[in-house]
This record gives sequence, structure tokens and C-alpha cells, in this order.
Amino acid sequence: MAHGELSLAEIVNYLESSGSEYQIISRSEQVMIMDAYLDVNDAMSKLGGLFKIGTVNCTLDVKDVLDEGRLENKLNSKEYYNWIDDKVRWCLSFYSDVPDFEVNIPDRFQDYFRQRLRKDGVKKAKYIFPKKVGKINRENISDDIIKKHIIGEGLEFLVSFISEKYYVGVTQEVVRNQEFINRDLCRPFQNPKESIPPKIARIMVNLTGLSAGDRLLDPFCGIGTILQEASILGLQVFGSDINRKCISETISNLKWLSETYNLEIRDISDRIFTADATQLSKYMNEEIDGIATEPILLPPLKRFPSEDEAENMLHTVGKTYETFLPEISNVLKKGGKLVLVTPYIRTNKHTERSFNLKEAFKNSGLIPYSHHNGPQFEYPIRSSVEKNKKVSRGIHVLEKL
Ligand SMILES: C[S@@+](CC[C@H](N)C(=O)[O-])C[C@H]1O[C@@H](n2cnc3c(N)ncnc32)[C@H](O)[C@@H]1O
Repeated sequence: MAHGELSLAEIVNYLESSGSEYQIISRSEQVMIMDAYLDVNDAMSKLGGLFKIGTVNCTLDVKDVLDEGRLENKLNSKEYYNWIDDKVRWCLSFYSDVPDFEVNIPDRFQDYFRQRLRKDGVKKAKYIFPKKVGKINRENISDDIIKKHIIGEGLEFLVSFISEKYYVGVTQEVVRNQEFINRDLCRPFQNPKESIPPKIARIMVNLTGLSAGDRLLDPFCGIGTILQEASILGLQVFGSDINRKCISETISNLKWLSETYNLEIRDISDRIFTADATQLSKYMNEEIDGIATEPILLPPLKRFPSEDEAENMLHTVGKTYETFLPEISNVLKKGGKLVLVTPYIRTNKHTERSFNLKEAFKNSGLIPYSHHNGPQFEYPIRSSVEKNKKVSRGIHVLEKL
């Protein structure tokens, strides 16, 4: 998983929206083990927070792994592949959140699979060395897996150590990062300082729980990154921004997306319009099924601010949030979700500051979303990759009463 808890929330939403039964067996910051029926290609093409999806073929406890004979016995009794050539490129990724295992354990798995391939008649098994070899993890990153044709033509074994158990399996699919990069860098207008990374935009769209055909609004649309990701998923998109230039850039970006991906994006010029979100209901009379938006309204920070400076900036921005929340809630249908970013500022004292919107949510008829069953999340959820930035995101998922 690319974003820890945020990725988990996205998967849970995806499974709930598709009506799939699932059970979470175990999880760490990087890996989640679950019992679920999953259409691997569909999940990988729709979700923004995954790196890899694999099977679990074998679960081992620490004792099994410390005793070489026992390890072999347990691994031997499992199938990992149902066809194999006499030539194969293969690799192994090992994930653990804790340094609490013998450092040579990944090598043991590697040795076992090397012998196993030989025993299964593979004459030429070419081992691909992972680029990221740390004390805890050794990982073949998704881009290398694709470049080296491991998916389809080769094999990657996955070993994850979570809560004193080893989960051993095989990678089925990996994320196509290049697609996200192209949507960011090849579109007519870019704004690296202010626009949201497309993968986080995709996660936010998925957290709205909407499906193809539903209407999604971003009332602080900037150059349209969230709207792009929503369009790829087949949602009908509506966007507004106070800045006229942003609106013409969003329109160009969406037209480019529609041509590049051969997508029908309806009524672009009518549905993307200039509006102040603090008075949105003046401009909109459509009812919207879901909203995903990132109104981080802070100036770009060149240095870590003092605690007082952070409080002052947040006070002003917080007031704007309090003003626009009832307005955007007004256009959201009952039961619809608002996925909203709030800013966190890291100060020069290494503390973090944000604001509390509990009252503003309540006054706008919004409550934190809770799942019907399965895990509950504490909002705002933070992205685990942003922890040390000057400004980072907290992501709320709210439901309109
Ligand atoms: C962080 S940017 C959004 C970036 C967008 N998520 C993207 O990826 O392109 C915030 C946007 O809010 C807009 N904005 C600021 N105040 C606003 C207001 N009162 N109403 C609507 N838009 C506003 C700015 O013009 C800016 O484009």
C-alpha cells in the first residue's frame, strides 16, 4: 500500500461499493492481508493507493521460519504457480515493519524458491536483484517489475512479516505509475506547487464511494486534477474555482484527457465555471452525489514557520472553511459524501498545527462517515508519505445528514 491508513480506507470503500464480502486478517503500514474476492485488474486500474496485489499461498509462524527443515516442509506443500517454462526471470520482495527478525530470513526464502524452481524443471531461472535492499525490507518496485516483464512472463514471490506471522505468496498485478505521471506532466497546464498528486486525487475520488455515471463536484478545482481522476472512473464532473484562469486551464486539461483517453466528458464548458465557494449555492442548482476537494488555501511556505505564524495562517484559512462548508453542503444530496482536505503545518519547533472543524461540520449537517461494518477510521486520515513536509494533508470523509 502506498499511503498506509489512507490506502486501507480506499480499499475498504472500494470493496463496500462493489458489495464484496471481505475480512481483514492482518495489516501493517505497508501491507494488508485480507480474505476477499477481488478482481485484481479492476482493483488495480481503479485504486490510487496500491503498489502491488498478490495472493497468500502460505502462512508461517516464527518457529517455522527459524527451523530450516520445518520451513521447507511448510513451503513445499504449497502451489505458487500453475504453469512455468523451462526459462524464467524471478525475484522476491520482502516487507516488514519491524527489524525484529533474523536478518538472513529473506535469504532463506530466496534459497528455498531457487531450489524449488530447479526441482520444478526450470533450467534457467534468472534471479533479478531488487534495487531497494534495506536492513528491514528488500523490494522490487513496481516500475522495475513492469520493465523486466515479471508480470505475465516471470514471477515475483512476496513475503510479508506482520504481527509475528510470515505471509508468503506471489504478485498478481502492480500499479502502472506511468499512467498517473503522464496525466500530471503531459496535460496542457501544470502547477506543481499547488496541484494535488494524481494518486491522492484518485484516492479521494474513491473515498466518495461514487460509481460511473454519478455526479462529482470539486468547488476548488485549481487545474482540475481531482476532476481528471474522476473522469477516468466515468463520473460526471462539475468544477468551480474563484480564479478564472484556473477554470480555462481545467477546461483545457479535461479536453486533453477526453481526447487522450477517448473518454466522453459531457458539457465541459457548462459544468466547469468560475465561482466563489463561499457563495456556491448562488451559482449551482444541480444536486451533487459527492464532493472531493482540496482547499489548501495557504501561501507557499519557504521555511518552517514559528508556532505563532502557523496559528495566524490557520486562523484565517479556518474562517474560510467555516464559511464555505454550509455552502457546499447545500448542493450535496442527503447521504452524499464530502471528501475534504485540511492543512497541517509543521512548525520550526517540530510541532504540527491544524484547526478543528467539529462545530462547522455539525452546523453544515455533516458527520464523519462511518462504515456499516469493517474498520472505522479516525478522521482526518493522514498520508504516511507526507509526514515531514511543511504543509501536509489531513483527509476527512463526511456524510450529509
Ligand atoms: C490547492 S488549489 C486546488 C488544486 C487542485 N486540487 C488541483 O489539483 O488542481 C486551491 C484552489 O482554490 C482556489 N480558491 C481559493 N479561494 C477560493 C474560493 N473562495 N472559492 C473557490 N476557489 C477558491 C484557488 O484559486 C486554487 O485554485
